Formats: sequence, structure tokens, C-alpha cells
Amino acid sequence: MIPLMKPRGFSIASAQSRDTLDKANTRDTLDTSQSRDTLDTAQSRDTLDTCMAVVRYRTNLKVERLGVCSTWLSTLPINHPVELWCEPGSFYFPTDTPLIMVGPGTGCAPFRSLIQERGSSQEMVLFYGCRSEREDYFFREEWEGVERLRVITAFSRDQEHKVYVQHRIAEHSGLVWEMLERGACIYVAGSSNQMPGQVRAAFTTAVSTQAGLATDNAEQWIEGLVKSKRYQTETW
Ligand SMILES: Cc1cc2nc3c(=O)[nH]c(=O)nc-3n(C[C@H](O)[C@H](O)[C@H](O)COP(=O)(O)OP(=O)(O)OC[C@H]3O[C@@H](n4cnc5c(N)ncnc54)[C@H](O)[C@@H]3O)c2cc1C
Ligand SMILES: NC(=O)c1ccc[n+]([C@@H]2O[C@H](COP(=O)([O-])OP(=O)(O)OC[C@H]3O[C@@H](n4cnc5c(N)ncnc54)[C@H](OP(=O)(O)O)[C@@H]3O)[C@@H](O)[C@H]2O)c1
Repeated sequence: MIPLMKPRGFSIASAQSRDTLDKANTRDTLDTSQSRDTLDTAQSRDTLDTCMAVVRYRTNLKVERLGVCSTWLSTLPINHPVELWCEPGSFYFPTDTPLIMVGPGTGCAPFRSLIQERGSSQEMVLFYGCRSEREDYFFREEWEGVERLRVITAFSRDQEHKVYVQHRIAEHSGLVWEMLERGACIYVAGSSNQMPGQVRAAFTTAVSTQAGLATDNAEQWIEGLVKSKRYQTETW
């Protein structure tokens, strides 16, 4: 009568060898000993990093609502085993084009993994957004040392008005268009609420202004990127 609880998906946030993924594909355990305070950037063949947020919000009736899985994970003692398995993600990343990545909040997880893998060999721009530079910019030091990566940040609550990744895309429309002209692919990950639509609108406006296209034509141009898998999204 009561349906089984559905599994939750979490992006792998660290570069992985094929061996590690194959191993984890047989149901395995997650070592919960690495909290956000002890993130270890040195990857071993037997570890997977994730970047998870505890879901906590107030409903319209002002009742506090805690996410089932994320709250449970956050309360586990260190080294408590967790059942997990791996599935391929939906993103396809070519090796021979520049990459434009947009990952507000936990949306940065799949990009952290890619940056670890290719940050020194492939040109990348990451639009990263979080609430506060001081509280939430977990990977600052790691990313600052990456040779071919440029991170453009949007700290939404560090000033009076909201600043989101789409505002930064608008401010850097020249860079975006210049990279697109060189064949760049766009990736968007994170919350599936309003963010993906607003980010797409920002790219559309960037194309429209930089290429001198009417909005309709710029929308069609972006749709063409989606169809040719040069504009991919993974949102939840
Ligand atoms: C491809 C992918 C990648 C993701 N990557 C990340 C990531 O890197 N980091 C991250 O923090 N999150 C990520 N998420 C989101 C993550 O899977 C969870 O949705 C999130 O942690 C909230 O889960 P929760 O159980 O805490 O919240 P809840 O709100 O309790 O649950 C979330 C979902 O489960 C359903 N649900 C809740 N309770 C039940 C129940 N009893 N039975 C059945 N269904 C139920 C809800 O309807 C809702 O759809 C990703 C999701 C996907 C699909
Ligand atoms: N400290 C905490 O307790 C804490 C911290 C982080 C996350 N969480 C929980 O975890 C869940 C997921 O977290 P997350 O880190 O993935 O995301 P998140 O923290 O909710 O959002 C990431 C960033 O995206 C911004 N944002 C909000 N709406 C946007 C939009 N339409 N377009 C672009 N950017 C937008 C947020 O700004 P604003 O939020 O300022 O609008 C924030 O700067 C949240 O629902 C939250 O409940 C809790």
C-alpha cells in the first residue's frame, strides 16, 4: 500500500577513473567521513566526492519542511555505510571545444568533476552562483589554481539586490558570443525551478545583442544549439 521510497540522484563531483565507477556500480557504500570542512581534493581511485545541500524551506503555510534524503545523510555519523550505485550522467563533453558551464548552488557538482579532469587542458568558463562568498564558495581555492578555467561568480545575498548567474552572463555577453563563435558548448546544471529558463533567456539576449539578431532568430539559434547537443541541461 505504501510505495517504496525512491532513490535520490547526486552528481559525482570528483574526477573518476573508469575503474572506480565500475567498482561502485555493484551496490557499494558511501564513506560519510568527508564533510564540507574536510574536502580532500586529492582523488584516489576508491573515493567519490559529492556536493550536497540539505533541503530546508518553509511551505506557503509557514511550516518547516526538511528534505527526506538530504537531511538523513546530514545526520549520519562519520563512516556510516550508505547503499549507492552509479549511473552515467546525461552530459556529453567534447574534448576539442571551449566549454561554458553554468552551475548555481549544487549545480556546480558535475563541473567540479570535469574541471578536475580537464581544467589544465581545455578552455572553460564557469558561471557559479551561491548565496554568500564567505559561506558557500567551497571550491574557491581549488578553482583559482586551474590553468585554463575562468570562474565568473554571482553571490546572490552579498548585496541589497539579487545577483544571479544570468546577470553575469548578460554582463559577459561579449565573451559568451566570442566563445560560441569558436564552437563552445553550453552546460547548465542545478535547480529546475526558474533558473534554467532564465539562464536560457540570458544566452538568447547575449546572442541577439552580440550577433545583431532579432530575438526570434536568436531563440532559433539557441534552439539549434540544443538540437545539436551544444546546449545541454541537467536540472533537478
Ligand atoms: C541527475 C541529478 C543530479 C543531482 N545532483 C545533485 C547534487 O549534486 N547535489 C544535490 O544536493 N542534489 C542533487 N540532486 C537532487 C537530489 O537528488 C535530491 O532531490 C535532493 O537532495 C533533495 O532530496 P531530499 O530527499 O532531501 O528532498 P525531498 O524534497 O524530501 O525529496 C525530493 C524528491 O523525492 C520525492 N519524495 C520525497 N519523499 C518521498 C517518499 N517518501 N517517497 C517517494 N518519493 C519521495 C519528492 O517528491 C521529490 O521529488 C540531483 C538530482 C538529479 C536528478
Ligand atoms: N544554509 C543552508 O541551510 C542552505 C544552503 C544552501 C542550500 N540549502 C538548501 O538546499 C537546496 C538546494 O541548494 P543549492 O545550493 O543547490 O541552491 P540554492 O542555494 O538554493 O541556490 C544557489 C544559488 O542560486 C540562486 N538562485 C535562486 N533562484 C535563482 C534563479 N531563478 N536563477 C539563478 N539563480 C538563482 C540562489 O540565490 P537566492 O537563494 O539568494 O535567491 C543562490 O545564490 C535549497 O533549496 C535550500 O533549501 C540550504
